[in-house]
Amino acid sequence: MSAAAPGLRLAHEVPLRTRNTFGVEATAPLLVEVLDAAALPAAFTLAELRAAPPLVLGGGSNLLLAATRTPPLLQLRSDAIALVADDGTCARVRAEAGAGWHALVEWTLARGLRGLENLALIPGSVGAAPIQNIGAYGVELAEHVHAVEAYDPATARWHRFDRAQCRFGYRDSLFKQAGAGLVVTALELELRRDAPLRLGYAGIREELAARGIHAPDARAVADAVIALRRGKLPDPAQLGNAGSFFKNPLVPAAQAAALRAAHPHLPHWPAADGRCKLSAAWLIEQTGCKGTRAGDAGISDRHALVLVNHGAASGAQLLALAREVAAAVAARFGVALEPEPRIVGATW
Ligand code: EPU
Repeated sequence: MSAAAPGLRLAHEVPLRTRNTFGVEATAPLLVEVLDAAALPAAFTLAELRAAPPLVLGGGSNLLLAATRTPPLLQLRSDAIALVADDGTCARVRAEAGAGWHALVEWTLARGLRGLENLALIPGSVGAAPIQNIGAYGVELAEHVHAVEAYDPATARWHRFDRAQCRFGYRDSLFKQAGAGLVVTALELELRRDAPLRLGYAGIREELAARGIHAPDARAVADAVIALRRGKLPDPAQLGNAGSFFKNPLVPAAQAAALRAAHPHLPHWPAADGRCKLSAAWLIEQTGCKGTRAGDAGISDRHALVLVNHGAASGAQLLALAREVAAAVAARFGVALEPEPRIVGATW
């Protein structure tokens, strides 16, 4: 470890197994921790970062390291959360990229602010959240975004994007689109104390009823979501994984209708542009892949969308298994699955 400019901390040849939730072995030639976002421009003057564009590491929870060496890594560490406006009903909350997502959810709930309760317990950092527009239990982050702050190393300029400029889509945003090169430094959310609770997603009402709660508040909804997630998704601390490995595929209405005629139990949801979102987990389960493994790379026996590392799987082995699963779904249903996590060191 060495100090570079003020606000930066450098480490060389950094082992990454504990810094990615898949728990795969890889080494970063350099890790630059940015302790204060104001030091970000200085980070990009480092020779190593000028030579190779860095990978911005959040919580490492949506990442598959497919090669054993990575580009230089950049990690934002500032994690302040603050109210920037509050009229008693509606508030704006600014959180810096290094804060933990779930810590932010808890911070807002403790202040009586609603909106993030369905997004409780999603792993990862605040900075990563807008990149893939995190979503769960019928709510997407985009609904609550007021602005995203980012730094563009190519132009050395700071930006503040409003919600429309972020071009949010299902697990997608301006920041994810290839070549954007923007480093997200902070998120500003707009949350209301009087927002209606969103109980419509399958499982929430049942979980609340099982707890004897008939007039839930946001805390109760968050607790129900936490219980549902713990029941369905393996804990990365116990079994390496990155949550859903595939996005739910969006297909044209006609293709969805044909598939539903042949498979009446296929779960589906209406989506934008007249398309239809299909359950990737269901498609995978029908191929018989759920719960199977190839060496230490496997498909969770609890949720077919979750690729798991039973111990010593390499990123390349996990990727190979994911490709087999996608090929099986394509062969059986004619539907192309796309990975959700960022794949580093290989292309899908
Ligand atoms: N299903 C199966 N087999 C399984 C699991 C699920 O057939 O092994 C079917 C169920 O019948 C269910 C349907 O799939 O009706 C949907 O399952 P679930 O509610 O678990 O949601 P999902 O569509 O599989 C999405 C998100 C999750 C999020 C949940 C809950 C994506 C890619 N994934 O999963 O997000 O937690 O909804 O809202 O959109 C993540 O992004 O990493 C993630 C975990």
